[in-house]
Amino acid sequence: MKILVIGSGGREHAIIRKLKESPRVDKIYAAPGNGGISRDAECVSIDAMDKEGIVEFSKKEGIDLVFVAPDDPLAAGMVDALEGAGIRAFGPRANAAIIEASKVFSKNLMRKYNIPTADYAVFDDPSKVMEYIEKKDKYPVVIKADGLALGKGVIIAKDNAEAKDAVKEIMQDKKFGDSGNNVVVEEFLTGPEVSVLAFTDGISLKPMVSSKDHKRAFDNNLGPNTGGMGTVSPNPYYTPEIAEICRKTIFEPTVAAMNSEGRTFKGCLYFGLMITPDGPKVIEYNARFGDPETQVVLPVLKTDLVDIIEAVIDERLSHLDIEWKNEKAACVVMASGGYPVAYKKGMKISGLDDDGQIDGAIVYHAGTKYENGQFYTNGGRVLGVTALGETLDEALERAYSAVEKISFNEAHYRTDIGKIV
Ligand code: AMP
Ligand code: GLY
Repeated sequence: MKILVIGSGGREHAIIRKLKESPRVDKIYAAPGNGGISRDAECVSIDAMDKEGIVEFSKKEGIDLVFVAPDDPLAAGMVDALEGAGIRAFGPRANAAIIEASKVFSKNLMRKYNIPTADYAVFDDPSKVMEYIEKKDKYPVVIKADGLALGKGVIIAKDNAEAKDAVKEIMQDKKFGDSGNNVVVEEFLTGPEVSVLAFTDGISLKPMVSSKDHKRAFDNNLGPNTGGMGTVSPNPYYTPEIAEICRKTIFEPTVAAMNSEGRTFKGCLYFGLMITPDGPKVIEYNARFGDPETQVVLPVLKTDLVDIIEAVIDERLSHLDIEWKNEKAACVVMASGGYPVAYKKGMKISGLDDDGQIDGAIVYHAGTKYENGQFYTNGGRVLGVTALGETLDEALERAYSAVEKISFNEAHYRTDIGKIV
């Protein structure tokens, strides 16, 4: 098979490296990919949002399968465009990707179908938001832009002044553009967070191993929210009892709810959960694999990923047994100093071999460039260094010892991945 993967980050690199293990795959392309990905796949310079370009390229090259990994092309109807042209694609159609692309949609879906989530209200008028928040007078309060905002459209306001600033930033200054036309105001929940990615063909749902993301930029969960600074898998808080409650009260009801709405979801459905004192609740849905969750989940997948993808597309997932290695995984993200705000690019990376790898770990490239046999930084998140082990401590020790051998100017990484809730 010839497979095209859309996207350019560490998640896409992890998908590509897993696809490479399949005896069914002859050739992998990435659009647009990155420096590290270019050592494992042929990168083609087509923008991830360019539906026409992707369809045209897929036809010309005789691509058998397109894997649409990022949120924006999914929300913009990339899968619809490919299917319309008779090309097989993995990922939800736009009418189902809305489960991530609109928080107003997902909150209303959960309310309508009794899926546990934080209590909330929706507003399109900034003055009404503050009226509501002041009447409730309960802080912290969570304020979320409705649309996609690179994981940054969520503000936890400690007091009235911070709430006012948040509403102004999102609704008046339009920091996230049209994503902030509507806001969701949510009750603040507490408890450990768990990410569960699941394959679903719209009929059955098969959860992958659980994971835990570390979203804040600095140690001790300080600093701004990022796309994710590191992950471990499985998540120690996700016990078999919790998993069973999630299956019954969240996972299966969500698949059924989307069907009832005429928005059947096929692809990878990502549940961002919080294990609150009242039980597990949904913090957010994503319509895709997580980044950097994928970097700890796919390395322990035993079953051929191509077989799973085809079972999802052909709606026969219930017949497939998905197997996992009995190992723990840890991923430490090496970022450019200053990420997620302002950072430099073009720093020379030392410590990697010509394939962008290092002994004892798997290096997933998130933001790198490859020129004349040398890797350079080319983004905020640069590398995701993953290692496996019999215990989580072993996996972490291996990941960190690889990280210490890799260097570039102003490199920043957290030193407490897997050690903090
Ligand atoms: P989201 O983009 O919706 O996943 O939110 C980003 C982060 O904000 C989450 O990972 C949580 O840490 C935090 N968060 C979101 N909603 C809530 C909530 N209702 N209560 C407490 N924390 C929240
Ligand atoms: N790691 C969080 C996300 O992919 O949205």
